Amino acid sequence: MKTILQQVNRKLIVIASLVILIISVAGTLPTRQNGLYKNLKILPQDITKEALDKIMDVEFSGGLGVKCNYCHAKEQGTDSLDFASDANTKKDEARDMMNITMKINSQNFEVKQPLIGDPGMVITCYTCHRGNYYPEQMKKDSVANINWLK
Ligand code: HEC
Ligand code: HEC
Repeated sequence: MKTILQQVNRKLIVIASLVILIISVAGTLPTRQNGLYKNLKILPQDITKEALDKIMDVEFSGGLGVKCNYCHAKEQGTDSLDFASDANTKKDEARDMMNITMKINSQNFEVKQPLIGDPGMVITCYTCHRGNYYPEQMKKDSVANINWLK
């Protein structure tokens, strides 16, 4: 007949082997793939390099008439840009604008699944910005140019 101690030991051995099994299986699984980029809060995590490059180059830089460094801060002590950093406040302003742009598309133009960079978008950064980072200034300039309004 088994003593209580032997029964407890048996249970412990079963639990211990299960734990070891689980740990070893988990170790063989691939680590969760987070995509290519480190700090996307609005764009899809699994966005391709091609799609992201197009948004940054055509939609953002082209739409606002700026270069990458308008929104992206420099990597400390170097001349290159740290694209994942949020140190440049324009980047978060751009995120607000991304949300506004998606909202206008879904609420006012019936775009079912608004995504920045998607060809189905009716309103883009360019619709308002027209290659100018500050649309309000553009408005003032164009009004100032109409002499008979002065
Ligand atoms: C108008 C502002 C703006 C401009 C101009 C801009 N970007 Fe961005 N960029 C952003 C924002 C905002 C994000 C983060 C998007 C998000 O949170 O989903 C981002 C994210 C990125 C990322 C992903 C970084 C990471 O690991 O999370 C890369 C790479 C990048 N930009 C490259 C560029 C390049 C190259 C240019 C110039 C051709 C450029 N950007 C121009 C606003 C801008
Ligand atoms: C519906 C019109 C509209 C759309 C669409 C729009 N913007 Fe704007 N944006 C504005 C206006 C107006 C301002 C000036 C806001 C102010 O004066 O406070 C502005 C300001 C900004 C600024 C700050 C400029 C500065 O230096 O003060 C950034 C950055 C910006 N927009 C990025 C974007 C990006 C990126 C997109 C596309 C995802 C976009 N905007 C789409 C109207 C728009």
